[in-house]
Amino acid sequence: MNMQLVKRVSELREAVAQARRSGMSIGLVPTMGALHHGHGVLMDRARAESGYLVVSIFVNPLQFDRKDDYEAYARNLPADLEFCRQRGVDLVFAPDAAEVYPQTSRVFVDAPRLAKNLCGMHRPGHFRGVATVVTKLFNMVQPDRAYFGEKDAQQLAIIQALVADLNMPVAIVPVPTVREIDGLAISSRNTRLSPEERRRATALYRALEAAASRISAGAGVEEAREAAFDVLREQPMIRVEYLEVVDPDSLQPVDEIRGPIRIGAAVWLGETRLIDNLLVSNQRLAIGHGS
Ligand code: PAJ
Repeated sequence: MNMQLVKRVSELREAVAQARRSGMSIGLVPTMGALHHGHGVLMDRARAESGYLVVSIFVNPLQFDRKDDYEAYARNLPADLEFCRQRGVDLVFAPDAAEVYPQTSRVFVDAPRLAKNLCGMHRPGHFRGVATVVTKLFNMVQPDRAYFGEKDAQQLAIIQALVADLNMPVAIVPVPTVREIDGLAISSRNTRLSPEERRRATALYRALEAAASRISAGAGVEEAREAAFDVLREQPMIRVEYLEVVDPDSLQPVDEIRGPIRIGAAVWLGETRLIDNLLVSNQRLAIGHGS
């Protein structure tokens, strides 16, 4: 079957309704385009689990706290369409901003408690923009399953809370972070790094790993954070925005390790902001404690 490209919500609804009538389950991978291997892994997973696979490509103005960042965001629809075609996508939904926001928004979806820390603290309004557009996409596509990367762990936690608290009939499927060979999480922002920044960027992952292994060896939160900062301090080019140890569900900072935790960080290299996180699961804690 040929891949279909649609720009209108009405056409999208028609195509999805037809697929549903023929008994297919609907999978959705929401993206902002500039597709890379990380997105590809989400699509592969979704392709394997869905009868009919929809990918949305929409750079959502509502989630950008800075206009220059919105404008600088990489856009390349022809390349993205080819990428989706090769992954066996059935339909690409690539609306214009005016189709998604035909008028000034009156209703927003917000998860204030979950959006307060980590990235939310530094990007006011960002997660409100994400939660609102994801709600809209879920209402437009009405998927059975939607796929999100753990790379954006705070986004994932907020979307899980969104569907639970608002009783949305969508199963959220988390997909582990896809990394480059040196550990750097794949991101469309990586292409903005100079060759030297790119070499140094790997310190972010190494810092998170250093903290995670301290925690699995029984260290406390402060010692783990120090271990991470030690790695990052070796790279004066890197400016740390935050580095926190949080509860994986509530995203609240923890001061004692009593169960699984997530270590999340955002750093700047020049003009580029990178985020990453690692889960220290019970299993990793148990191995660290020798039991
Ligand atoms: P975008 O940054 O394009 O990411 C789309 C999806 O791909 C997200 O679920 C993200 O977590 C996942 N992803 C990106 N890089 C990844 C990697 N290296 N490994 C695993 N998953 C990865 O996130 C957004 O778009 C937007 O906020 C969106 C949800 C589409 C709402 O506008």
